[in-house]
Amino acid sequence: MSQGKLYGVGVGPGASDLMTMRSINVLRKVDVIAIPQSSPHVKSVAWRIAEKAVGPVEGQERIFLHFPMTRDPEQTVPAWNIAFAEIETRLKAGKSVAFITEGDPLFFSTYIYLHTHAKEKWPEVEIEVVPAVSSFTAVPSIIQTPIADGQERVAVIPASYGLDDLPAIFRLFDTVLLMKVSSVMPEVVKILEDENLLECSYYVSRATMEFEKVVRDLRSIQNDKCDYFSMIVVSKRGRSGILAGRVASETLGA
Ligand SMILES: C[S@@+](CC[C@H](N)C(=O)[O-])C[C@H]1O[C@@H](n2cnc3c(N)ncnc32)[C@H](O)[C@@H]1O
Repeated sequence: MSQGKLYGVGVGPGASDLMTMRSINVLRKVDVIAIPQSSPHVKSVAWRIAEKAVGPVEGQERIFLHFPMTRDPEQTVPAWNIAFAEIETRLKAGKSVAFITEGDPLFFSTYIYLHTHAKEKWPEVEIEVVPAVSSFTAVPSIIQTPIADGQERVAVIPASYGLDDLPAIFRLFDTVLLMKVSSVMPEVVKILEDENLLECSYYVSRATMEFEKVVRDLRSIQNDKCDYFSMIVVSKRGRSGILAGRVASETLGA
């Protein structure tokens, strides 16, 4: 029997109606949907998004796979290997498997580890990646702030790694999107204050999800327990508008 096909399917940032038609079509036609979850007691965010749009599919198997929320490879790697083995068994039986992820599958996603594993260990398996609306675009849409235009430069940074680099990054880039900020809020707010950037910073959590929240005064929440699905957008806009003649091109090298 030939091997089944593997799909990495992004289900978007939260609202089910932001899923793409392709993602829904794939999820309705595959034999198996593989659903990552951090704990058996917490419903997978990706599945919460997809379930409504996909609905019941007769004969389809849905498997819940444990992907612990930790940076400790002694915990992640063994759990992933168990999950990958579950997927491999189905692919080898000729079944198509779609692994779902919140947001885009190739942007800070567990799917990336499965993709790398599949390329290395299952070279004969056909793979298709289904892209999605990412938090990278959903969050700016909530605050209606352009990500970049003309000569502006953008950086996307996982804030929980490498706080020391932030001041230099803030000077080099016009827009900075700080992902994974929830565990380092006080430190990030202090750096933004020192760099005089609090005025042009926004905090957005759960963009397009239930309980979405936008905060302008970052000091007011710096000591709160912030949501894992949160991002800070630093938008200077000092070099925006070149195509409308609003800034001179000499600022390019600034
Ligand atoms: C593991 S990454 C997942 C990124 C996802 N693959 C994507 O394309 O957006 C998790 C981080 O993405 C950001 N994030 C994801 N969804 C979000 C949302 N709906 N609202 C705000 N931030 C979000 C947060 O910074 C969170 O800590």
